[in-house]
Order: sequence, then C-alpha cells, then structure tokens
Amino acid sequence: MKKAYDVADLSLAREGKRRILWADRDMPVLVKVRERFGREKPLTGLTMAACLHVTAETANLCRTLAAGGARLSLCASNPLSTQDDVAASLVKDFGMAVYAVNGESTAVYYRHIRQCLGRLPDITMDDGADLVSTLHREFAARCDNVRGSMEETTTGVIRLRAMERDGALRIPVIAVNDANTKHLFDNRYGTGQSTVDGIMRATGVLLAGMTVVVAGYGMCGRGLARRMDGMGANVIVTEVDPLKALEAAMEGFQVMPMAQAAPLGDLFITVTGDADVLREEHFRRMKNDAILANAGHFNVEINIGQLAELSEDIVRQVRPNVDAFRLEDGRQLYLLAEGRLVNLAAAEGHPAAVMDMSFAVQALTSEYALRKAEELEPKVYSVPQEIDAWVARLKLKTMGIKIDALTDRQRQYLSGWREGT
Ligand code: NAI
Repeated sequence: MKKAYDVADLSLAREGKRRILWADRDMPVLVKVRERFGREKPLTGLTMAACLHVTAETANLCRTLAAGGARLSLCASNPLSTQDDVAASLVKDFGMAVYAVNGESTAVYYRHIRQCLGRLPDITMDDGADLVSTLHREFAARCDNVRGSMEETTTGVIRLRAMERDGALRIPVIAVNDANTKHLFDNRYGTGQSTVDGIMRATGVLLAGMTVVVAGYGMCGRGLARRMDGMGANVIVTEVDPLKALEAAMEGFQVMPMAQAAPLGDLFITVTGDADVLREEHFRRMKNDAILANAGHFNVEINIGQLAELSEDIVRQVRPNVDAFRLEDGRQLYLLAEGRLVNLAAAEGHPAAVMDMSFAVQALTSEYALRKAEELEPKVYSVPQEIDAWVARLKLKTMGIKIDALTDRQRQYLSGWREGT
C-alpha cells in the first residue's frame, strides 16, 4: 500500500513533538478554539488540504482542525521552510498525512501539493496560493468539490484577486491575511522579529552601525525597519508608493530609490511581494561583501539569475544558508537562504505568540466557510469582523490586559451629531 505521507525522517518525531508542545504554550487563543472544537466537532466529516509552512505553530493549527473532526493533509508552502522534526511528529504522534521535506526540489514540492489535492479536499488552506493555483490549472474538475479556501499571506491574496478579476476563480476564498488580527501583528511584529533572527543565525553579523536597506514599507517592511533601527542599524527604506514612502520618512528613516541605496547598503532585505527589486543595475553598484536577503513570499524579489550571470564564481554554503557570489571585478556578494523567506529558511519563522492570532483566525474562518458554504460565491471574501474582534479580545485577556468600556453617555455621544463646541 502507498504510504500516506512523505517526510524526511520519522525518527525525528520526538524532538518535533517537544517543539510543537513548546509552541502551544504561547498559543492560548488557538488552544481555546481547539477545546471548543473538541467538544462541538464542527468540522466532522470534512477533508481538508493545507499548504502552509510546516512549522511547530502550523502543527498546532492542524491539531486544532483535527480536534474539530477534520481529516487533514498538509504540504509545504515553501521548499525550505519545512521543519523536518515537526513533519515527522505530525505523522507519528498525531496521525496526519504530511507531504513535506526540507530542501525538496520544485518537482517534489508540486508532487506534494498534488498528493494533498488527490485526497479530494472540501476545504483548502494556502500560504501563497500555490495549492489553489495548482487546483485550478491541473485539477479544474475538482473545484466543484471545494467548498471554500483560506489564504494566509499578502502575495496569495494578490494572486487570488487577480484570478477573480480574470474570471478564473472557481471557489470562494477568504483572505485571512487581511484580517486585522493577522496582518497588523503577524506581518509586522512576526516578520520583523523573525527576519532579524534569520539574518543573525545565518551570518552572525553585528547589526549595530550597519547600513540596512529595507525594500518595501508595507506591513512587513515597517515592522522590519523598526526592529533593525532598534538593533542600532542605520535604516534606508525604498518604496514605490508615495504614501508609504512619506510615512517611512516621518518615522525617521532615510528614503531613496534603490539605485541610490545600492552603493550604501551593507545588508539588503526585500519584502515587497514584487519581482526584480534587486537586479543587475543594483548588483553592479553594491559594496564588496554586501549581504542580500529576502523576506517576501517568493524567491523572485532578488534576481538571482542576473546575479549568477554577473558572477565568475559561486561558492555554495560558505556557511549554512549563505552562498558567496564572486563578481568579475573581484567583489563578493552574499545571498542568504537562496533568496527564499530568510525568516523561515534560516530561523524558525514567526514566534508562536503572534501565530496564535493568525491561526485562531484560520481555524475559526474554516468553520465559518463551512457554515456559509451554500451562500459563498467564487470570490475573495473578508474575514467576518466578529472573528477579528473575538480573537483580539481573547488575546488581550490571555495577556492579562484589561481595557475600558464605553459608558452609555459616551456611546450616545459617539453616535450623535448634535453636540459640538
Ligand atoms: P504590503 O502590500 O503591505 O507591502 C508591500 C510594500 O512593498 C508596499 O508598500 C509596496 O508599495 C512596496 N513595493 C512594491 N514593489 C516595490 C518595489 N519595487 N520597490 C520598493 N517597494 C515596493 O505587503 P506585506 O504584507 O508587507 O507583505 C510583503 C511580502 O511579504 C508579501 O510577499 C507577503 O506575502 C510576504 N510575507 C512574508 C512573511 C514572512 O514570514 N516572511 C509574512 C507575511 C507576509
């Protein structure tokens, strides 16, 4: 019989389980959802396929969905982000169908997605929309089986909106990324901290005094720029959006085009969701020993093909997750984690405390998608406000933080227009 999983090494399960349980300590909101799901079983009989970063936090989301009664399969949303010990534990200790191996080739990555789709999911979950895109491109007939899908990241939502615009989207999708309790926290504080973590683990550099160029001042970029500033780096921001650029300038960062920043930076980090943000014209002007990293979803933000073409010699893995590119003029540029998400490839991704909110939203939105399946059309929907509010309230409670409540007089004042000076 064909085995219903593909992971690197099942003997890693013990360590994986330890890490899953350690992360769970910091995920009290998700634990509350899991306890209710365990009692009410709202996902009974459901087949779910998830394409997410296979981390300890994701494992706790999977446990929650399974507690709700779902039959789940999981594949990676990036070839380098899988934590092999976590994948092993999910199979061995939690009986899940996991198809994910750290370092898998593109062909294996897509084979794993197909294996998840082969289980005929009713509900899917994506981080970057590779699963939904494969479903539409290769298994269009199976779209009728899918009652709804959740999308975790900005790039995925952008792709799905493009599908909706083109009239290509055949299933309802809920943009989990756009929930306030997701992007205002996960993207900003999670990506900010874990990107610093990944760069430090990969290189061991002293950030204080370095010139760090952050490309993109969106939700992730502003968290990253602030944290780099906190580490003592001189931060330059590059942007294409005038409002974001203005905001960065008023936050005290230097703002300039990449062509101008290229000769100044010691460390460059792209986090735009866009392609070719660092390209030949920039590589040609960079300092010797400059370090290049990406925290945006796909490995297209740094044009690695052009970098390789400009190079006389490429030394892979001068230390783990660092490749050295020696250019024709003798300068060396260092690329981290093959230009893939540095926070997941070189570190462990976001801290559990912030994924607590994102994954509580994921779990509650799956339940909502199922409940509303008959009403939802093939469109990109927002997460209902009640879910956002519930997660925010409970997170505050678990942090021991109380807030004020409006008095009747205040409520009346805020909803009226007659009172003035
Ligand atoms: P966002 O849409 O809030 O911000 C992106 C910013 O990049 C925008 O302000 C945009 O104007 C700017 N931009 C676009 N092209 C640019 C260019 N050529 N040069 C300079 N700036 C440019 O998106 P968000 O939420 O910050 O996400 C950014 C990327 O990070 C996406 O790919 C998203 O999927 C990914 N992401 C990665 C995470 C991680 O764990 N590393 C976590 C969450 C999101």
